[in-house]
Amino acid sequence: MQIVETVAEVREQVKVWRAEGLTVGLVPTMGYLHEGHKSLIDRAVAENDRVVVSVFVNPMQFGPSEDLESYPRDMDRDAALCEKAGASLIFHPDPSEMYHEDFSSFVDMNTLTGGLCGKTRPIHFRGVCTVVAKLFNIVTPDRAYFGQKDAQQLAVIRHMVSDLSFGIEIVGCPIIREEDGLAKSSRNTYLSEQERQAALVLSRSLALGKQALEAGEKDAAKVRSVILDNLEKEPLAKVDYVEVVDWNTLEPVSQVEDSVLVAIAVYIGKTRLIDNFIWERSTK
Ligand code: PAF
Repeated sequence: MQIVETVAEVREQVKVWRAEGLTVGLVPTMGYLHEGHKSLIDRAVAENDRVVVSVFVNPMQFGPSEDLESYPRDMDRDAALCEKAGASLIFHPDPSEMYHEDFSSFVDMNTLTGGLCGKTRPIHFRGVCTVVAKLFNIVTPDRAYFGQKDAQQLAVIRHMVSDLSFGIEIVGCPIIREEDGLAKSSRNTYLSEQERQAALVLSRSLALGKQALEAGEKDAAKVRSVILDNLEKEPLAKVDYVEVVDWNTLEPVSQVEDSVLVAIAVYIGKTRLIDNFIWERSTK
């Protein structure tokens, strides 16, 4: 497995693979890889001849008061995980390689990005779309892999790929959880022992929402309050949002009819955690 830091090196390697007729999968990450990322890499390795993992903490998607500086990093561990999982190349650029001094072009979206995480993170998806578009142009993969844990991101990337005709298949992969239900996230490392325990309230509250839907509840407001009421019982939790939205448009629904995304964001202490599930009425 190679680790390269420049766009030119990635392009050179991909050119060689293409000349050999090989397919290429891309797993974009910000590093500090865990089982969730590993599941994306495993899937990419199974479906492509060669897999590129990008490890880049993208400054453009962090707001001024967010955790860019403290975001966890461990390149040696990441490299070992990628190698073991069968990745062929890690692209680990410096911010200056991705954003030259006179950088001034952005990918922005008028739909999908205003609600959910976009409300508290207004510049986040512009940063995500811009860096992912760049990665797509650099790697030119056949397929790219994203976790459903960042469900809004997955929907936004799919929309961008369609709008801008990237011709890349976007593969959404299921949320990977700790044994006790907490969704895996690099940010879980910020949690103290007490907060780690309190964080279980996210998956447990979502499970109650799912139970209500399974019991036939169609009123989105009622599903929301089941989740909200349970979240509010946890003293260390501060709710950012609880939303029931259409999985295609990400617009709030009042009645649960088709596919909905039930998504939450909750601060546990200073750490903002997200979790969700997708409910397909037709398959239940
Ligand atoms: O999901 C992430 O880790 C990031 O948002 C991504 C897609 C790698 C873009 O920086």
